[in-house]
Amino acid sequence: MKSFKPAALFSLLAGVILSLGALTVVADHDSDESIAERISAVGNLCVEGEKCKAPVAKAVAAPTGPRSGADVYTGSCSACHGTGAAGAPKLGDVAAWSPRVAKGLDALIANAMNGINAMPPKGMCMDCSDDEIKDAVKHMVDNSK
Ligand code: HEC
Repeated sequence: MKSFKPAALFSLLAGVILSLGALTVVADHDSDESIAERISAVGNLCVEGEKCKAPVAKAVAAPTGPRSGADVYTGSCSACHGTGAAGAPKLGDVAAWSPRVAKGLDALIANAMNGINAMPPKGMCMDCSDDEIKDAVKHMVDNSK
């Protein structure tokens, strides 16, 4: 065994172990649950004590016409505006909304479209049309004065 090289054997073994490891990772990566996790909306609300719901059907379903302002609010805005997360003005909080409403609806809609500070553009509803965002803003404003 003149040509026996422990280092070569070691790296061969390490290679086998690594590729086994990679296979396991790939398998796990493709499980339904991990896919659902990766394609679920950012800002998806998780309630303590409940399993986080991944809106798989919603993410895959084709849009079926414009959503109402209330629907968009519930689906995309309430994660922050229902809880005050990230300092978002809460729906129904008149004191938080009145100085904002004073800027005029157009300014609020523009800021909802483009984002402002911790408020992400379109409230992260990337498949929302301009009109749907507009209606969601109106829904929040109408219910906060
Ligand atoms: C990730 C959290 C988050 C989400 C989701 C979110 N907002 Fe906001 N929003 C904020 C925060 C924070 C502010 C306050 C920003 C500031 O004035 O500093 C804000 C402010 C606003 C304002 C007031 C802007 C102004 O000019 O004063 C409007 C209007 C608004 N959001 C609309 C929406 C709509 C519509 C949606 C859903 C489509 C949405 N937001 C989703 C965090 C969020």
